[in-house]
Amino acid sequence: MSSFVSVVAPAKINLQLSVGPLRADGYHDLATVFHAIDLVDTIIASESESLRVSVRGEGAQFVRADSSNLAAKAAQALADLHGISPRVYLELEKRIPVAGGMAGGSADAAGALVACDALWNLKTPKAELHSIAASLGSDVPFALSGGTAIGLGRGELLTPVITTGEFHWVIAISEGGLSTPKVYAECDRLRAQQVPSQPEPTDYQPRISEGLVQALRAGDAYALASTLHNDLQAAAISLKPSLARVLDTGLELGALAGIVSGSGPTCVFLVASQDRALSIAASLSGSGVCRTVRTARGPIVGARQN
Ligand code: C5P
Repeated sequence: MSSFVSVVAPAKINLQLSVGPLRADGYHDLATVFHAIDLVDTIIASESESLRVSVRGEGAQFVRADSSNLAAKAAQALADLHGISPRVYLELEKRIPVAGGMAGGSADAAGALVACDALWNLKTPKAELHSIAASLGSDVPFALSGGTAIGLGRGELLTPVITTGEFHWVIAISEGGLSTPKVYAECDRLRAQQVPSQPEPTDYQPRISEGLVQALRAGDAYALASTLHNDLQAAAISLKPSLARVLDTGLELGALAGIVSGSGPTCVFLVASQDRALSIAASLSGSGVCRTVRTARGPIVGARQN
């Protein structure tokens, strides 16, 4: 048994986020395409008397380092499954923006599951790790599996999507975060305003775009650009109008397409190559429309030991 385990876990982009009506359980049915990118958090698990968490890096001051942290809940849930005490110190080194719409908290939870499983030498079957992940949050199962995948249900029912090559991204990180439940609620509110008659639950049926799946299979960034879509984008812009300027600026600088990532406020731009990513990122950074800019590639694998 090693004295510590280090795991990296990826951020996600939703290449498509199609949102259905509000369900009785407070969630929305989704049809989404997740894509894992090489913007990663590192999760280090070491032996400890009790369950402890510390957080450093990007946005660490906004993350609670206690038992309410999703990574701590993941460790606790795994220990409960095996009937053991969660004797682990989890160090979270953040690069994924906090409350940014890139599932950073979910990445930390997935990373904690993989790290604790190795530290405690449990060899938990994948299906059981997946089911703990789904109980922790809608995006945690994808952070475990990575790659590119269709997500149905709350987003936890995953099917891998075949892709060719890699895609290049510029990530524009805004000041502050957006609350995921508030963005979904704003989406519902905007839809209720739009439909003059009684909105029927069938008005919004989440569906995966066939064109998007084909573009991924072909590795065609130009075709992919025309199919990127996020149903939560209007809601995120309604709550944070400055995002419209971020999106416009990225497109003016030559990105093939730009969308709000998940519930925002991070915006992601698909670009034609690594070189284009670097030059657009430099110009976007200089434009002052967002707080920080990163470049990234996808897809990459899910949470894994490094
Ligand atoms: O599953 P997770 O804890 O990440 O979800 C956070 C919140 O986002 C939920 O409480 C819900 O308000 C909203 N949500 C939703 N439909 C989904 C996923 C999340 O309404 N499919």
